Amino acid sequence: MKQTQNQTKVINTQNPPTPPQFIPKQSERASGLYLYLISIVAALGGLLFGFDTAVISGVIPFIEKQFMLSGTEIGWVVSSLILGCIVGVILAGAPADKYGRKKVLSTAAVLFVVSALGTASANSVLVFVIFRVLGGFAVGIASMVSPMYIAEIAPAKQRGRLVSLNQLTIVIGILVAFFSNYLLVDTGENNWRWMLCVMALPALLFFVALFFVPESPRWLALKGKTQLAAQILEKINGKEIAVREMEIISNSLKNKSDGSFKAVFLPALRMPLMIGVGLAFFQQITGINTIMYYAPLIFEKSGLSINSAIYQTILIGVINLVFSLVAIYFVDKAGRKPLLVIGSLLMTISLLMLSISFAYNLNSMITLAAILLFIASFSSTLGPVTWVVISELFPNNVRGKAMSVSIVFVWITCFFVSLLFPVLLEKIGGGNTFLVLAFFCLLSLLFNLKFTKETKGKELEEIN
Ligand code: BGC
Repeated sequence: MKQTQNQTKVINTQNPPTPPQFIPKQSERASGLYLYLISIVAALGGLLFGFDTAVISGVIPFIEKQFMLSGTEIGWVVSSLILGCIVGVILAGAPADKYGRKKVLSTAAVLFVVSALGTASANSVLVFVIFRVLGGFAVGIASMVSPMYIAEIAPAKQRGRLVSLNQLTIVIGILVAFFSNYLLVDTGENNWRWMLCVMALPALLFFVALFFVPESPRWLALKGKTQLAAQILEKINGKEIAVREMEIISNSLKNKSDGSFKAVFLPALRMPLMIGVGLAFFQQITGINTIMYYAPLIFEKSGLSINSAIYQTILIGVINLVFSLVAIYFVDKAGRKPLLVIGSLLMTISLLMLSISFAYNLNSMITLAAILLFIASFSSTLGPVTWVVISELFPNNVRGKAMSVSIVFVWITCFFVSLLFPVLLEKIGGGNTFLVLAFFCLLSLLFNLKFTKETKGKELEEIN
């Protein structure tokens, strides 16, 4: 109780010192506009994540000629980003806990700019790969810290949908990359340089916009800056919610562990960590990026001409975008667990359809229908909800490190799936390959039914 009074006093202070933060107008606060604006700024990290992973598909045919790349070198050019992501995620956890979420996001923004300019001006494949790895660091960091930051500023009732904004921007980033590649393709021999260079613009915007968002109040409270944390929470959520949240946050910090890497593996966190790692693994092993990275190849193998294959790829992007909105609508209403369970079920069904269609050489329209159902199911469930739940599972003092341990499995699994998919397609055929993926979707269904706990509407501190 004493704690409550203290917090109330902090928030009611007559002349609080002006924090070095962007102060929203009263009208913006009342409409929740400020909350949405700062979430969108953080979600720009998702936009760059999406753009950077997708841009390479348009660049490859041109640098292949320019640098006379062998098959192995092409493999390196494509996978170097994902290797960078793995390292980026591993390295970002500790600084996010030590120096704050904002500083780490700004570092990612700088890396995005450097990588865009570096790859665009590369004159050898080695330099290209080095700057791609740097871009990977940035993608890895953004994939973790953007959802984390949003989860930490959002009020419990809206947290799911705000974190899902990050999936929406990932998908928008992918679409923007496809379109910008398409528009730049006829700009002459330096076309691929322009394709890569354009990313510097949104990255710069991200860097500048970050100056106008406040630091995460939960991180500030963890560092003992409770007064500033309370002021920021009040600006975001209004006084009433801020007082309640500060009380919960302060109580949660009383029994905190030392926040070291070891603490992530203490028995108390074993279950959340297992759920985090499991969700990360299943988001990727169920095969989303076999479609995202290899859609034209799949369509071609199912008998479509290359031209219509490209149109279908755009269709995939649009479905991906539209169904991310479905998640935003449902995630705080229906909850995380039902979406994960239903999504895994629908993905199993669509992959079985795909497998049968390949095994029996059915009409290519069935292949298309199965792929679209798969994409729609992923982008309204496992896609966004994985990031939502992983950003909710862990206590404030180890969130950075524990998220890093979980999310590294997104990237490791992504690396192996995208590496092995073409090999499997060749060795065991489309029918069997998609059957294997359907089996993993079924496991994801069972995993979510048994282990994932509902986090809808709870304060982060009530979850762990
Ligand atoms: C996944 C990516 C995927 C993207 C597009 C993200 O949630 O982590 O691997 O490419 O969604 O759907």
